[in-house]
Amino acid sequence: MINQQFAQDVLDGLSSTPKTLSSKYFYNKKGDALFQQIMALDEYYLTRAEYAIFDRYKKDWLTLFQNTGKPFQLIEFGAGDCYKTKVLLDAFTETKSDFQYVPIDISKNILEVLEADLTERYPNLDIQPVNNDYFKALEELDKNTTHRKVILFLGSNIGNFTDEQAIAFLSEVKQRLSKDDLILIGVDLKKKPETILAAYNDKKGVTRDFNLNVLHRINDELGGDFQVENFMHSPIYDPLTGEARSYLVTTKAQTVRIDALEQSFEFEAWEAIHTEISRKYSLNQLEDLAEKAGFAETKHFFDEQKYFVDTIWRR
Ligand code: AVJ
Repeated sequence: MINQQFAQDVLDGLSSTPKTLSSKYFYNKKGDALFQQIMALDEYYLTRAEYAIFDRYKKDWLTLFQNTGKPFQLIEFGAGDCYKTKVLLDAFTETKSDFQYVPIDISKNILEVLEADLTERYPNLDIQPVNNDYFKALEELDKNTTHRKVILFLGSNIGNFTDEQAIAFLSEVKQRLSKDDLILIGVDLKKKPETILAAYNDKKGVTRDFNLNVLHRINDELGGDFQVENFMHSPIYDPLTGEARSYLVTTKAQTVRIDALEQSFEFEAWEAIHTEISRKYSLNQLEDLAEKAGFAETKHFFDEQKYFVDTIWRR
């Protein structure tokens, strides 16, 4: 069966100038595995930096989450394997704190694996997984008024949004929160451009394969005939905008047929397909984002090198 949304997005993306393919299609079984490998790469500092922040501030955060005297709900957007969140779950269950863990994910499979893993690891943890998109999930959760909501949006996932998308997304989250609810956002900071570029251009080529995976998916799922070896992974970093951008660049002119779309697409030599934005912020830009999304109070928590920030905003 063909994923119609995927087909439509590929059609739109390859029909536009410049051509684009969304990074959300990097993630299938193979893509998930490649992303796991990326997180362990020497060059990919983001995951280690955020892990260090969690470890450093877990006790302070528990105090902060409890400072209204209510029990709280730890609501994670796109929980995945919740590698970093386990640092918090360890600390919070150890002190027998009154809280619920609510992982939200659009992938039912990921949630089931996660729930089984967490139930075994934390027999007394109150887990309420929600298999839905983020906003629908928040609406469902809104019925619960005894708990303070603490939303986790980690891993620099916000970086995949443009400025406008980030403001729109966070404003919408804010509208669904009550007074004193919190959101904790993991944000990658501007730093030496070489360091950032290397994180998206690793020596082993795992990030290259991650990007190329979208072409394999089109071949496998939509009957495409991309000759993947004719495409190069070509990332850039612009220190002015803070955008790391990834492109797949064709090395020669070619025609690509996609059966499910009943259409062919022409590529000129060295034409680029834009695949991903991984936005880096300065603290001023981050404060600006909070203000534009309507959050008043912000608190920043850094790793030792100040590579990354987890910022907590209050509704
Ligand atoms: C999961 C979106 C945060 O942008 O750094 C890693 C994905 N892309 N290497 C990022 C990614 C290339 C990652 N995010």
